[in-house]
Amino acid sequence: MVKVDRFIEKAIENIRRQVDGKALLALSGGVDSSVCLVLARRAIGDLLIPVYIDTGLMREGETERIVEIFGDAGLRVVHAEEQFLEGLRGITDPEEKRRAFGEVYLRVLEDVAREEEVEYLIQGTIYPDFIESLGGIKSHHNVKGLPDVYEFKAIIEPIRDLYKDEVREVARALGLPPEICERMPFPGPGLSVRILGEVTREKVEIARRANRIVEEELLEKFRPWQTYAALVGKGTGVKGDVRAYGWIVAVRAVESRDGMTAQPLEIPHEVLMRLASRLTSEIPEVTHVMYDLTPKPPATIELE
Ligand code: XMP
Repeated sequence: MVKVDRFIEKAIENIRRQVDGKALLALSGGVDSSVCLVLARRAIGDLLIPVYIDTGLMREGETERIVEIFGDAGLRVVHAEEQFLEGLRGITDPEEKRRAFGEVYLRVLEDVAREEEVEYLIQGTIYPDFIESLGGIKSHHNVKGLPDVYEFKAIIEPIRDLYKDEVREVARALGLPPEICERMPFPGPGLSVRILGEVTREKVEIARRANRIVEEELLEKFRPWQTYAALVGKGTGVKGDVRAYGWIVAVRAVESRDGMTAQPLEIPHEVLMRLASRLTSEIPEVTHVMYDLTPKPPATIELE
């Protein structure tokens, strides 16, 4: 982006023009919504109410860390773990899952809006979310995953024209901490799109532990654009001479500039072997570990 300062000025002006009262800001703690938080705060000050929804589908320690970072910004934390599990119950199709997630996401925000008497919602949708949703590739939770009918007077998306690398530039210019500016992307629907098939409490726990191990092994050392673990099915194993019908974990690590295309990371064999060993020994329910070798395209980054 040529003129970051100009973008910031314009974005603040636009928010002021569109919002004539209080607004909720859906904060996930990722770089996109954090940038929107700073822009909106500068635009409407205390009329902004940042809301963080704990979907129960976050990574280990994520909610606690977000509260530590943004607690001073008057963050309201909503615990909606049960609502999301309930909304996702029995759903196996990836697109249906995304719509079910989007429905609960918006209804939870509407509940807060009613309580706080707020008419506007600000969210950190970026350009690729639109391209992928409207191009029919996958329904991002904040675009096509949203229900058509909602109570908000308007949903405002201050960075809807930006790619991820541009959002990071804006984040740096706004003075957000490096932990946020360089934060690895994490999808709104969280671990639910890293569990193929139905989402259950048990699978979420296993996916959460697997994601922690993968991040511990790969994040610092290789600095991938994105890395994660997904539960892709079940397979027969043998643990302690006993048959174990356990989870197959797929590990993904990619390089990318803006998430629109991606290349799998070349990871040394011994690192992959350590991952396999840690995942199968530290998580008793895991029997197989695989590494995803596909670029985007033809794959996408998340499996669902
Ligand atoms: P895909 O899987 O489409 O992902 O190649 C591209 C980037 O978008 C993230 N992603 C999402 N982000 N809501 C989000 O906020 C979503 O529904 C969603 N789906 C995918 C993905 O993690 C990757 O960084």
